[in-house]
Amino acid sequence: MPEDRSAVRPLTDEDIPAALDLIRLAWPDIPRRAQEEMVRRDPWRAHQRSFGAFVDDRLVSHARFHYRPVRYGTVVLHMTGVCEVTTHPDFRRRGLGHRVLGAALEWMRSVGRHFVMLYTGVHAFYSPLGWGTIEVPLHYLPVRSVPTLGRGAYRVTRLPAVHSARTLADMYEQTCGRHPISLIRTPDYWEQWPHWGKQNLWFGLLEDEWSVAWLDDKPVAYGGLNWSLKRKGSPSIHEACVLPGHEEALFDVFDDLVERSRAAGGDPLELNLPNDHALVRRLEDVSEPSSNTSAMVQILDLPALLEALRPEVERRTSTLTRSAKLRLASPLGAVTIAAAPGEFVVSDTEAPTSVELTSAGLASLVLGFRPVVELCAAGEITAAAEAQKALGVLFPCLHTHYWQIDHF
Ligand SMILES: CC(C)(COP(=O)(O)OP(=O)(O)OC[C@H]1O[C@@H](n2cnc3c(N)ncnc32)[C@H](O)[C@@H]1OP(=O)(O)O)[C@@H](O)C(=O)NCCC(=O)NCCS
Repeated sequence: MPEDRSAVRPLTDEDIPAALDLIRLAWPDIPRRAQEEMVRRDPWRAHQRSFGAFVDDRLVSHARFHYRPVRYGTVVLHMTGVCEVTTHPDFRRRGLGHRVLGAALEWMRSVGRHFVMLYTGVHAFYSPLGWGTIEVPLHYLPVRSVPTLGRGAYRVTRLPAVHSARTLADMYEQTCGRHPISLIRTPDYWEQWPHWGKQNLWFGLLEDEWSVAWLDDKPVAYGGLNWSLKRKGSPSIHEACVLPGHEEALFDVFDDLVERSRAAGGDPLELNLPNDHALVRRLEDVSEPSSNTSAMVQILDLPALLEALRPEVERRTSTLTRSAKLRLASPLGAVTIAAAPGEFVVSDTEAPTSVELTSAGLASLVLGFRPVVELCAAGEITAAAEAQKALGVLFPCLHTHYWQIDHF
């Protein structure tokens, strides 16, 4: 057997230049500076970690793991986003990529992360490690025939991302931040984001500007044009929010985004928004539904996640018509949940009824991506009718979307 001269370890600041060289090889379209800002300006930099594999002390495989807290009702969930997973072309298919991710998964569990998300085109690389593919809804609008939705009642301006931190932070809190499940974005997040979002084809804004609607001097709605993750070089609306009481302003923002999309030659315009979003509902008749299957998710510690969710799930038990005891069995482990009005208990005991879930089915159910009925129809969950009913009450579809904003 030849001697193994490889080692896997977390990276330090001194490794950053070598990591950026490796990343540049895989994604030459994204300026090195934009990649560097992502490492150095991440709002949760202290919780971020990169791992690498070295052969003869040379960095040849790399992956970065960003921390993102998610608000789920009154609970905070700890999410990791994965990006820049790459192995030098000369060192591929030697198991180095899997070793890097394996070390990172161990670390994520040790620091109490609940789940981990990523976007990829290489699903077969991630699925053996426990990730499952989820379907994210998209809608396409032929730009030439998009109707004007607003009445021009609100003045719309375009605000450079670097100058809009405070405006956006406040509006986000009062809009997206109030959704049942949302990405937590602190004032520092808004300060840092434009720097690493800038020029970055994955999360940057077209022209680095937000469209903002105003009532006198008060900002009441905003929206941005990002790049589509599905159609390269095409614009996409990923985020458009409005304060309660000013719903019309969202339509004025939308009209401005369409104008900008036309100017950028983008056709069709993509809506990457949840199915319960006002724009998706309003444009239902003129848009073409589609989906993106590049997102993958993995729950890292199911008992810990269910325990964290307990206060929220317990609240829902009041609408249960009868008590339920279910064994949730997935490739990532099994756990028993017992629910009765006012009570939700997570244990490792036996249960009379078993529910089979794929990795994606489990995450989609527990994190509110899709309704249980749909997940059963798609073969992601196998459950008897009575069990489906109970799961639907305990884990309703929340149209989870807002964590997608960072695209890791
Ligand atoms: C994807 C990538 C990181 C894999 O790195 P790697 O070090 O070669 O991966 P490993 O050797 O650990 O692969 C382990 C297993 O994953 C699967 N796998 C790896 N690369 C794959 C690919 N390109 N397509 C399908 N399956 C793949 C295989 O099952 C492989 O086992 P095998 O070699 O015994 O068949 C590497 O090909 C790469 O850098 N690609 C370009 C950048 C990229 O696309 N990154 C992913 C972005 S999300």
